[in-house]
Amino acid sequence: MRAEAEAEAEAEAAAVEAAVAAVAAAEAQEAAAAAAAAAAASAAAVASVAALAAATASPAAVPLDELIAATDGFAEARKVGEGGFGRVYRCDALPSLPRVACGFAVKTALVGVGAQGLAELQSEVRTLSAACHRSLLPLLGVCLAPARACLVYPLCRGGSLEDRLYRAPAALQRLRMLGFETPPPPLSSAARLRVLRDAARALHYLHTLSPMILHRDVSAGNILLDERGNGYLADVGLARAAEAGAGSSQQVSHLSTQRIFGKPGYMDSIITHDGQASQLTDGFALGITLLVALTGRGAL
Ligand SMILES: Nc1ncnc2c1ncn2[C@@H]1O[C@H](COP(=O)(O)OP(=O)(O)OP(=O)(O)O)[C@@H](O)[C@H]1O
Ligand SMILES: [Mg+2]
Repeated sequence: MRAEAEAEAEAEAAAVEAAVAAVAAAEAQEAAAAAAAAAAASAAAVASVAALAAATASPAAVPLDELIAATDGFAEARKVGEGGFGRVYRCDALPSLPRVACGFAVKTALVGVGAQGLAELQSEVRTLSAACHRSLLPLLGVCLAPARACLVYPLCRGGSLEDRLYRAPAALQRLRMLGFETPPPPLSSAARLRVLRDAARALHYLHTLSPMILHRDVSAGNILLDERGNGYLADVGLARAAEAGAGSSQQVSHLSTQRIFGKPGYMDSIITHDGQASQLTDGFALGITLLVALTGRGAL
């Protein structure tokens, strides 16, 4: 009798042990699944334009061969636009850079930039490496090959504010290149305000750095949108660190420019008359951008 009871108790204990082990195994499995989900979520977060903008990292050196391979030799089929610096091509991956879901925009100089151009680019890259703001389009990579200088940014699949406002045939073609199979609907007032708010925050951030960074080419074309409608101030490439004037932080600092930057219609007459760029002339350009975005009228 006693032997039977002992055997029963032993069997019960074994069953409890097995159940505990099963629960522990299930818990371990759950923990592993949660860890995998967290890792996937953080990888996805790193991949978005917003997460890239929020992360502080110096741009990586990207060899020209890599850029040529990734853009199929700067193929027309990969071209998303063209501007003052040169052409912009899209590519999905670059071995020198971490993987991103948004893809990359490779901006390449049309012609060799020359020794002075390279030195300027180098100093801009240094200046920009210190800047990081969630609404400032980050510079992810740089190639300072004399024959073909390139800058690599996250690809903003929402296009430029200018293209989203005007929706001209060329703009719709650029938006198609970014993945819009059909033209996106016009931006609502709320969406425009949100993008303008983001760009204004980024510009204010640049102006409060020490030394101050001037953008010098604020325009609707240099404000880009991600696929969620967040706005990013792009192309601080023409900016230069301006030594803040001694004294109070309220003081306006100026930078005399040999060359004149900015787009017609967005340029304060102070620049055209005196060649003086300042946070006021950046502010003027932002004001014109607001006007353009809120009224739908051109800058001129
Ligand atoms: N990071 C990017 N993501 C998506 N599209 C981009 C990106 N950068 C540029 N583009 C597209 O390429 C076009 C050309 O850009 P680019 O910056 O060379 O010229 P721009 O903005 O018209 O003039 P600027 O020379 O004053 O910057 C932009 O209008 C935009 O449509
Ligand atoms: Mg631009």
